[in-house]
Amino acid sequence: MIFTVAIDGPAAAGKGTIARAVAAEFGFAHLDTGLLYRAVGAKGGDPVAAAKLTPEDLARGDLRSLAAGEAASRVAAIPEVRAALTRFQQDFARQEGGAVLDGRDIGTVICPEAEVKLFVTASAQVRAHRRWLEVGGDEAEVLAQVIERDRRDSERGVAPMVAAPDALLLDTSELSIPQAIEMAVEAIRQRIGQGRA
Ligand code: DC
Repeated sequence: MIFTVAIDGPAAAGKGTIARAVAAEFGFAHLDTGLLYRAVGAKGGDPVAAAKLTPEDLARGDLRSLAAGEAASRVAAIPEVRAALTRFQQDFARQEGGAVLDGRDIGTVICPEAEVKLFVTASAQVRAHRRWLEVGGDEAEVLAQVIERDRRDSERGVAPMVAAPDALLLDTSELSIPQAIEMAVEAIRQRIGQGRA
């Protein structure tokens, strides 16, 4: 079965948590596409050359840091970097057995034919608070970084972060994690049910 779940949205909205839960529920493969951009940014040097990723690049221990997120957001605005990572993501999306990918442009650019598209969001304040609980430091500074990263990701010329017109919007500001997961799982169940009808 070819079945793709595309999950897009800003940082710390809950995409990763929902994606992992959905993958476990349906037995789909999961790709956190942010890690690809983080690995390119973390390598330093010429970003286009760095976009030829190796398994070692993806195994680095520092990819989840705030600094790697910042570097990722910068290299992600370079069209040649995005182009170098496209094919791998598209092949992953259409693999046999089902796949869930989370990122910024999965439902719009990488896999517009995805069977289910979710755009997971939450207020900047809520997202900054969640990030601050993970990383500590000055919460106001974390909020400023979240707002700046949103701006860069949504205003860039190539593959900006935007909800696909046919995406289901999931605002997790006031949802618990189990509630958000349940809504995503339900949307996928319905779509699988339609496929069988
Ligand atoms: O989801 P994340 O925080 O790990 O993503 C890090 C950065 O990578 C994000 O600020 C923008 C970029 N990114 C992207 O442009 N497209 C994707 N599909 C995933 C991430």
